[in-house]
Amino acid sequence: MPLEITGLVKRFGSGADAKEVVRGIDLKLRPGECFALLGPNGAGKTTTLRCALGLTGASSGSISLCGLPVPEQAREARARVGVVPQLDSLDPDFTCAENLIVFAGYFGMRESEIRPRIPELLAFAGLEGKDKARIQSLSGGMKRRLTLARALVNKPELLILDEPTTGLDPQARHLIWERLRRLTAEGTTILLTTHFMDEAERLANRLAILDAGRILVQGTPREVIAAHIEPQVVEVFGEWDNTGAGAAAWAEANAATFSKRCEISGETAFCYTDDATSLLAHLARQPGLRSLHRPANLEDVFLKLTGRELRD
Ligand SMILES: Nc1ncnc2c1ncn2[C@@H]1O[C@H](COP(=O)(O)OP(=O)(O)OP(=O)(O)O)[C@@H](O)[C@H]1O
Ligand SMILES: [Mg+2]
Repeated sequence: MPLEITGLVKRFGSGADAKEVVRGIDLKLRPGECFALLGPNGAGKTTTLRCALGLTGASSGSISLCGLPVPEQAREARARVGVVPQLDSLDPDFTCAENLIVFAGYFGMRESEIRPRIPELLAFAGLEGKDKARIQSLSGGMKRRLTLARALVNKPELLILDEPTTGLDPQARHLIWERLRRLTAEGTTILLTTHFMDEAERLANRLAILDAGRILVQGTPREVIAAHIEPQVVEVFGEWDNTGAGAAAWAEANAATFSKRCEISGETAFCYTDDATSLLAHLARQPGLRSLHRPANLEDVFLKLTGRELRD
């Protein structure tokens, strides 16, 4: 098994200041799958990953990484894992190639071993010919991609990616998606966190939504959507009326008649329903309002389960 976590609890601080940020997480990754860990800011995703890698000690629970117990054999286990941390940790004084060489050194690889693979690693991250470029000269997105290339120097069987595409433009995100698919096709197991629900829906075979240190739901993207949300959504926005009461007043007067559930976010009413026909007909008679009719997606589930309030 690439990763098996049972009853993971993590507390920071002690006594009256103690804060339990991971509160009993069970997670079992299957070989070759891509698993996404989702959750609002502060949910405990990074802490869970750091515990899994033995970079921070668990307060209780058991962890097996690449079949080895953590923390006892965390070092040996980590040698078989590639990691993209949430924040880039490239050495700013070195070139791209030097960063890869130094990193390979941590795994006991000699320069002569890694050097021939550098063009291929850089190409994988869309950084062809950048071997002599200094880190300071790279854009944020290029640094992120170099961090992914760096995570592959030890040919890992498990890749742990903490928000790998945060800060990337759409072009780079598509490149990364394609590359990650390529890796899973070759048998690499992937565990990633992301705030992009479309990314999770597209990449993940299975996912878990985490909030306040607990897993709320787990399953394939389709299962999670089918189990937790009405299939159709109509987003309603525009000029509500001349009273200034806005979306909430409109929803109060109309939503219950035409939808099962309605949520207000800013100036938009999200109407969830099994069949949008009557709502759309009603909206057609309200020329000031505009609407977007679409199938429900993972973001709808995420917002339903974790709420629309800001975190942190
Ligand atoms: N070293 C630490 N000491 C004290 N509290 C910490 C420490 N590291 C994390 N926390 C707290 O633990 C909680 C979970 O943090 P974590 O970084 O795991 O969240 P996350 O799900 O990765 O969030 P984000 O999406 O913002 O990256 C937060 O409330 C954070 O403030
Ligand atoms: Mg995080």
